[in-house]
Amino acid sequence: MHPTLETARLILRPYTEADIAELVPLVGAREVAATTGRIAHPYTEQHAKGFLVLAREPDKIWLAITLRSDGRQIGGVGLRVDREFQHAELGYWLGVRYWGQGYATEAAREMLRYGFEDLHLHRIFASHFKHNPVSGRILEKLGMHHEGCQREHFRKWDQFVDLELYGILRREWQIPGGVRE
Ligand SMILES: CC(C)(COP(=O)(O)OP(=O)(O)OC[C@H]1O[C@@H](n2cnc3c(N)ncnc32)[C@H](O)[C@@H]1OP(=O)(O)O)[C@@H](O)C(=O)NCCC(=O)NCCS
Repeated sequence: MHPTLETARLILRPYTEADIAELVPLVGAREVAATTGRIAHPYTEQHAKGFLVLAREPDKIWLAITLRSDGRQIGGVGLRVDREFQHAELGYWLGVRYWGQGYATEAAREMLRYGFEDLHLHRIFASHFKHNPVSGRILEKLGMHHEGCQREHFRKWDQFVDLELYGILRREWQIPGGVRE
């Protein structure tokens, strides 16, 4: 069973069937699909049902990002864990109207804490399309290191796009200042 995690403004919790109605229009925005690799567009209720099955797998820890104030669903954050290597890939998205308020950084920072402290991971990594610098800024704020660029690695809507790679090791996360403001 996936955890429920809390931050100052957010509750990150497992998805339920009841989330589907709110999830579909939120994740279905073209702007959200445009800078992510695995979110279908258009996004249907069937996609959401498939996602909920996937999000229950033990190593795919996808949680709904909800507002502590009123419980509203505003986005999603996940760790895709590979236990053999003790590492995980971080991913996140927010509904468009919730951008620019620091929510993604707040949610992702808590997922890093969960990954290192509770799952005892050795490394957490993430990537973003080059044309999505906002995501790079989030990864920097988390204390991640830029590890390179895979040129034209990804095909997105008939365009080959560069993928920027980031990662952080357990020992870097633990040092004071490893988690940056
Ligand atoms: C990427 C996304 C999650 C950002 O969420 P958010 O809550 O708005 O992000 P935050 O507010 O936590 O942080 C954004 C940071 O980027 C900065 N930023 C904004 N525009 C920027 C730009 N053009 N270039 C660089 N940095 C930028 C912000 O100033 C902020 O940094 P700061 O706190 O130092 O000021 C959101 O835009 C989204 O869901 N996009 C679609 C899905 C997606 O791209 N997911 C990530 C896939 S890798």
